[in-house]
Amino acid sequence: MITLDEIKKNESIRALVKAGNRYLETLGYTDHGPRHLSYVSRTASYILKSLGYSEREIELAAIAGWVHDVGNSINRHDHGPNGAIMLFPILKEAGMSIADTVEIITAVGNHEEQSGSVSNAVSAALAIADKSDAHKSRVRNGRPEPGDVHDRVNFSIQQNDVLVDRKNHVIRQSLTMDRSSSVLEYLSIYMSRIIMCEQAATFLGQEFQLVINDHPVNNQCPVQQKLEP
Ligand SMILES: [Fe+2]
Ligand SMILES: [Fe+2]
Repeated sequence: MITLDEIKKNESIRALVKAGNRYLETLGYTDHGPRHLSYVSRTASYILKSLGYSEREIELAAIAGWVHDVGNSINRHDHGPNGAIMLFPILKEAGMSIADTVEIITAVGNHEEQSGSVSNAVSAALAIADKSDAHKSRVRNGRPEPGDVHDRVNFSIQQNDVLVDRKNHVIRQSLTMDRSSSVLEYLSIYMSRIIMCEQAATFLGQEFQLVINDHPVNNQCPVQQKLEP
């Protein structure tokens, strides 16, 4: 089976990752380069590993996390489906089996909250990993643009942990924000992503819980009850 390490070294993937990140930098977007891709790859594979999925699915989630944004090298609009179309011949040529390639392109083609639907475990893990990436280190050069709400929100996030609580069937994202932004601002730009995380977690038989500064955001249950080990 083709591994994440091999995919990272693939010349086409490297060029597309670089081009997509550069394009989004020009548009003023937060980081979509190796930092974001590493987070998504690591988090997606962690979710499936924690839930007892097969080694193959765990590796596919790691690979999907690394390649999911290559469509940004063409255009931000429809970058999920565009990326999936581009990836099919690249992954096939790299030696990936057709079955694995198809699983990756379905996940990549559906990772955008505007048009994506979760239909397999790799896709679900990718969605949660991608939509949960918010942190001060995502602001380019450590210099937030005060008028940019994405910069403000990300820069205020000091800590971001996604943990699978298998016993309670919960995938919990815990954020620590300082006062340079607010929960309201976070929700104003992340709401549709939170909903996609909820849908993806449901697909995996889990509940998605968002906790910001120790307060549960997306459910009515007392946080203490949910946080019991
Ligand atoms: Fe994306
Ligand atoms: Fe992404």
